[in-house]
Amino acid sequence: MEEKKLDKWLRQLTLSVNLLVIGILGSTLLLLGHALGIFPLKNQEIPGIASSGDSASRISSTGVWQAPQLASLPSNQEGDLIRYGHELIAHTAVYLGPKGKVRQISNGMNCQNCHLKGGTVAYGNNYGAVASKYPVFRNRSGTTEGYEKRVNDCIERSLNGKPLDPDSREMKAMVAYMKWLGKDVTNGASDKGFGLLDLPLPKKAADPAKGKAVYEAYCTRCHGEDGKGILAENGLEYTYPPLFGENSYNTGAGLYRISRFAAFVKANMPYGVTFDNPFLTDEEAWNVAAYVNSMPRPEKDLSMDWPDLSKKPFDHPFGPYTDSFPEIQHKYGPFGPLISANK
Ligand code: HEC
Ligand code: HEC
Repeated sequence: MEEKKLDKWLRQLTLSVNLLVIGILGSTLLLLGHALGIFPLKNQEIPGIASSGDSASRISSTGVWQAPQLASLPSNQEGDLIRYGHELIAHTAVYLGPKGKVRQISNGMNCQNCHLKGGTVAYGNNYGAVASKYPVFRNRSGTTEGYEKRVNDCIERSLNGKPLDPDSREMKAMVAYMKWLGKDVTNGASDKGFGLLDLPLPKKAADPAKGKAVYEAYCTRCHGEDGKGILAENGLEYTYPPLFGENSYNTGAGLYRISRFAAFVKANMPYGVTFDNPFLTDEEAWNVAAYVNSMPRPEKDLSMDWPDLSKKPFDHPFGPYTDSFPEIQHKYGPFGPLISANK
């Protein structure tokens, strides 16, 4: 009797010790794997606003383009113009918004809402390559565009506004800033953190209903359920910019193409993530792009765009096209068949 009890107890002890050893071994392996990047622990936490120092050091560690420092600018007229250009990009609405102190020509958004940190962030829609590219022939207008035309494109579309006089001090300042930002970038440089990081195309159509769930889980807390964003205390610019509704970008804007939206959001949202430490899956990025771009926003007359229809991007949501696929498929996909048909 006593012996049986002891035996049972011993067996239980061995079992527990075994389980303990397996547990310790298992978690050591998991931790090791995580450290080596084999089992990334997704959903650590939904990122909030990371300190700028943190994200900057991550970016430099991967050797992509780095903007020159504003502090390195000389204190002369040229330096002042470039600094004013930066100020206009960062706080556009204070100068050019509905209550702007220079002119009232745009919707209250700042360039920096989409060209993050003054257009300096790797794959944060930065201006690094602009100086080496412009003037450039663009298929959207069918003309050779200088800096001024390109800046006004974003003012008239992304900022749903009226063009700025090319000879104004404000235009000259923004152009000077972009030239200075890209001064060390040589012609033809590509794919080193410039602009946006393209995502692989999804096999299925992007789904606005699934995107709504992504939006509600990860975006409403800053951009609001109604997509209207939140104005800053000064009442002039946004702390959290609008994503849809009357104060958002219009239907002619770059972000209205879902490939641009998905690429921007994957590498930059929720605010605080970086291209090399993203939060959303590719599928979530495409779906949330589809949802946001299915919501109402100002309309732009696009009848003069894409004079050569064969140059329209696959995800341009308005016909006519040179193929026979419907607008809805150009808007949400699946894009594979469109791309093969247009080859
Ligand atoms: C709502 C978002 C948004 C806002 C606000 C915005 N832009 Fe843009 N901008 C874009 C997108 C999207 C692109 C195209 C990116 C692409 O296709 O790679 C772009 C492209 C550009 C380019 C060309 C970049 C290149 O490498 O060819 C310039 C220059 C530019 N914007 C300037 C401005 C200026 C100046 C402002 C403010 C007056 C502004 N943008 C405001 C979204 C925006
Ligand atoms: C922690 C707050 C926060 C969260 C969460 C967040 N954003 Fe943003 N978002 C911002 C801020 C702040 C900006 C503007 C950045 C600036 O001006 O420096 C921005 C800018 C944007 C822009 C470009 C500007 C515009 O209004 O069109 C888009 C698009 C965007 N966010 C999409 C999203 C999406 C989609 C999600 C959810 C997946 C998301 N954001 C989650 C804070 C947030």
